[in-house]
Amino acid sequence: VQQRKLVVGNWKMHGSLAANTALLNALRSAETGPAEVVVCPPFPYLAQAATLLAGSAIGLGAQNCGHEAGGAYTGEVAAAMLLEFGCRYVIVGHSERRADFGDDDARVARKVLLALEHGLTPILCIGESLAQQQAGETRAVLQRQLQAVLTHLEPARIEQLVIAYEPIWAIGTGLTATADYVADIAGYLHQLIAQAMGAADNRPAVRLLYGGSVNAASADWLRQLPDIAGVLVGGASLKADQFDAICQAF
Ligand code: G3H
Repeated sequence: VQQRKLVVGNWKMHGSLAANTALLNALRSAETGPAEVVVCPPFPYLAQAATLLAGSAIGLGAQNCGHEAGGAYTGEVAAAMLLEFGCRYVIVGHSERRADFGDDDARVARKVLLALEHGLTPILCIGESLAQQQAGETRAVLQRQLQAVLTHLEPARIEQLVIAYEPIWAIGTGLTATADYVADIAGYLHQLIAQAMGAADNRPAVRLLYGGSVNAASADWLRQLPDIAGVLVGGASLKADQFDAICQAF
């Protein structure tokens, strides 16, 4: 299935009103590539980003959403609120949230369901730690993280997901996985997705992204992997020239 490539910038806990204005204005004037481009600023900056991106082809996403639709959950932000600020995507289950904020498999599944119910596209993050990789547990970990979500979804819903494979050891470390490694894991993930969908062919239309120290150089070989439909970019998404080069590569 030929899909439009997707490049997502996850700003994490970075930015300021001034820095965001400079970054988004620079990206706006550079937006020319064929890939779909989405930026995910911290919650307080969503309104500012929506204003700066008005009329632009660059889309908006959030970095997380609450695990309930609303209620007494101090500090949380509901999926419905994200919609009101123009978000079309929401990152769910990022490894930083799994490690530091109690987002276990069950909670991640809950957030994916809520996002879908509200018409947001979840970008479901999965990935193994260095210790898990060294113990030969990569495939088992990925299967567990994926099944925890896919088991709750009809095939038509699964097709709406974006899945981001991010080996934790490659996040923010400057260590990108090799092309062979990413190709191998991507093939495995597509198999799991196909099984969950009961699909006859093993290439369902689910967009699978790679994340982990992506830069312009790695974007160049990542775009050539047939099972990879784009990238989830952290650090390099904060620098207009670098992010633009990655977007252009796709
Ligand atoms: O969400 C983005 C990833 O965690 C990758 O971050 O590009 O800084 O390694 P990074």
